[in-house]
Amino acid sequence: MTDRWQKAMDHAVAIARTAGRVVREALQAERKATTKNSSVDLVTQTDQKVEQLIIQSVKEKFPSHKFIGEESVAAGEPSILTDEPTWIIDPIDGTTNFVHGFPFVAVSIGFSVNRQVEFGVVYSCVEDKMFTARRGKGAFCNGEPIQVSDQEDIRQSIIATEFGSNREPEVVDHIFSNLRKVLTIPVHGIRGAGTAATNMCLVASGCVEAYYEIGVHVWDIAAGSVIVSEAGGVLMDVEGGDVDLMSRRVIAANKRTIGKRIVREIHPFDVIRDDGQVPQEQG
Ligand code: IPD
Ligand code: CA
Repeated sequence: MTDRWQKAMDHAVAIARTAGRVVREALQAERKATTKNSSVDLVTQTDQKVEQLIIQSVKEKFPSHKFIGEESVAAGEPSILTDEPTWIIDPIDGTTNFVHGFPFVAVSIGFSVNRQVEFGVVYSCVEDKMFTARRGKGAFCNGEPIQVSDQEDIRQSIIATEFGSNREPEVVDHIFSNLRKVLTIPVHGIRGAGTAATNMCLVASGCVEAYYEIGVHVWDIAAGSVIVSEAGGVLMDVEGGDVDLMSRRVIAANKRTIGKRIVREIHPFDVIRDDGQVPQEQG
């Protein structure tokens, strides 16, 4: 049987490469940022231009498909995941890196049907690494299969996380308290590339054992989620249940035991879900 979504995936790879070229070129020019939800939540004309480029080209090929795009949502479009085929787009994951020329910037395109991510494409455009995964068919970087690390001991691990863009002191205290707990397990190190999508690809490639963050968005993690699971990793909520892509909380790990150990160390804090729904009590 032919793969129903293969054409969509081929298109995602092609458009991610084109988008990445635009981002790379923009990195050579002056990059003026404006702000969104806070003084450190940045956006540039390139974010908006690249998102439009991706959405327009997808609409021409797949006119009935839906979209959740970071910049469209910022402009007032709804952020609701339905059963419909939906492209979940972050035109530049790592906008702060982009503005400062810090060389980890990714184009992230996830595609979900029945609320399940069917494929993910993350193009780390400065490194020129194209990460791809189709559900049930493995994960790849530039066409070569990738696999998570086989390390089972968190004390022998590197854990990735981020500080996010909320600078309210209570939130920062919470993030630091979680970080302190994980660091003092102790682990070999803590890292963060400045892009959630790249951090997830680092898990999928076996370079770090796990990545966790509270405060991410669905467009940061949709594509990466299937890349991690197809590379043999696991995804879970920060309280240990199933990951909910709209909840703005994620742990991606090489092994369930490592993910669960992070669950034991960190405490969640409140964030407004991407779909605006009131969070359910976690078990
Ligand atoms: C952000 C990056 C960052 C993470 C934030 C994301 P953006 O995405 O992925 O690493 O800490 O939670 O929102 O704003 O650069 O697309
Ligand atoms: Ca972005």
